[in-house]
Amino acid sequence: MQLQSKLPNVGTNIFTVMSGLASQHNAINLGQGFPDFQMSEELIAFVSEAMKNGYNQYSPMPGWMPLREAIAEKANYLYGANINPDTEITITPGGTYAIYSAFTAILQPGDEVIVFEPAYDSYIPNIEVNGARAVAISLIYPDYHIDWNAVRNAITPRTKAIIINTPHNPTGSVINENDVSELRKIVEGTNIFIISDEVYEHLIYDGIPHQSILRYPDLLNRSFVCFSFGKVYNCTGWKLGYCIAPAELTKEFRKVHQFNCFSCFTPTQVALGNFLKNRDAYLSLAGFMQEKRDYFSKLMQQTKFTLQPSYGSYFICGTYEKLSDEADKDFVIRLTKEAGVATIPVSAFYRDGKDDKVIRFCFSKKNETLEAAVEKLKKI
Ligand SMILES: Cc1ncc(COP(=O)(O)O)c(C=O)c1O
Repeated sequence: MQLQSKLPNVGTNIFTVMSGLASQHNAINLGQGFPDFQMSEELIAFVSEAMKNGYNQYSPMPGWMPLREAIAEKANYLYGANINPDTEITITPGGTYAIYSAFTAILQPGDEVIVFEPAYDSYIPNIEVNGARAVAISLIYPDYHIDWNAVRNAITPRTKAIIINTPHNPTGSVINENDVSELRKIVEGTNIFIISDEVYEHLIYDGIPHQSILRYPDLLNRSFVCFSFGKVYNCTGWKLGYCIAPAELTKEFRKVHQFNCFSCFTPTQVALGNFLKNRDAYLSLAGFMQEKRDYFSKLMQQTKFTLQPSYGSYFICGTYEKLSDEADKDFVIRLTKEAGVATIPVSAFYRDGKDDKVIRFCFSKKNETLEAAVEKLKKI
């Protein structure tokens, strides 16, 4: 049998590689982005209750309606958005799937999509598997802001979409109001779609407001806005998320969704429909995680790493020029083997492997884990 790969440049992703290396060397895993502490017991109880109450069959294709209603209510409360739960919200198996489905709904072969790098690693393969081309623009190092002139220069008649991500993985940078107004000027009067990856909407620190596309009806009109419950409720393994998009776009999105997974795990949807009413559960997350960022940053002052600012997400990046001038990929492998701490090289988030010698640490861990990791990092 001969198979012509649709993704010839894709190998095993860096998270799998580094997590594998971490377990092989019994290293502390500050690489992949997931909490190592328990999620809410109350939410677990809601799932178990839903299962006992018989909510174990297929839910409707777009998602469990009380959950969609709770999401619409939340979008209105947080961002003043008027979202129709019937026609504008689709529950998905995670944020990554929502992004993939949005791309698949809109892209034709030969289309171009503007992607900011470093970029979450699913974006470019998602674009390419649809026969489209990713046009990568580097965020400006070291604060990783968007160069909007570069975006203007990259627009062509083939530009179908721009994908944005705020708070940003891997850098922890965030989009501000000025970025939104630049984006608005660029897309106004065009047929360019926006895919907005907002999986870290509640992980934003220092009182900075999250610039959700849901705040801006003119931008929302052309957008697929993607979210993840895994990130909000410390349960990344649940793989549950949703996409908010105007009815016309949602119609196309659901054509892809209904013949891919059709509908998501029902008990968690029922549980989240109840749990989402508890505003404090999602509003308290920023404070909780900001404390972790601050605690980790303080501990890291005892090491030779220099941390960069992080305003959101699970992540904070750092440089290691006082320790080595190795390529970041080589350095993280050595760090895992010799120091016993796994991290992620930021060059992995660039298609061409651009290496600013920056590595990413995940701080959504128990304080003991952060302490133990820094004890090891201090020794190198
Ligand atoms: C920027 C970004 N988008 C999307 C996702 C995926 O979310 P989910 O696990 O819900 O698919 C992640 C997870 O790491 C992420 O960092």
